[in-house]
Amino acid sequence: MERTFLAIKPDGVQRGLVGEIIRRFETKGFTLVGLKFMKVSRELAEQHYAVHRERPFFPGLVEFIISSPVVAMVWEGEGVVASARKMIGATNPLNAEPGTIRGDFGVNVGRNLIHGSDAQETAQTEIALWFKDEELVAWQPHSKLWLN
Ligand code: TYD
Repeated sequence: MERTFLAIKPDGVQRGLVGEIIRRFETKGFTLVGLKFMKVSRELAEQHYAVHRERPFFPGLVEFIISSPVVAMVWEGEGVVASARKMIGATNPLNAEPGTIRGDFGVNVGRNLIHGSDAQETAQTEIALWFKDEELVAWQPHSKLWLN
């Protein structure tokens, strides 16, 4: 079953949006398989955003991610990678549609509340970077019976 990596960034935690954000993925019908509340090391932040290493916003992005705790998560479900990206909305919250997480709660590209893997291959890399195998819980929620 398809999985994606999502992380509620420091601004989402500081603004008290953890419950609201998790609720959206739960009620959509996706299944939580990994969850941890953590301070991010500089090494992990730099690895996670390695593709942006040469971009001017990279140093500020890393400082932001390590500044305060995040909620790291793995979610599972049919089409979850692309669907979560839709639910998250455009990178710049000012361009994000109302109804998306960034569209409803954000205004600043540097404070856009949540990360979501952008493709299935990236999701696998990010899940392996953030979670050990034994931290992921495979289970079958009974509610799934009503989604198929
Ligand atoms: P990116 O991977 O392009 O966006 P997304 O999070 O939607 O996959 O960029 C990673 C993060 O870098 C983005 O969430 C916020 C930050 N960022 C900036 O601060 N300024 C920028 O101009 C861009 C493009 C991204």
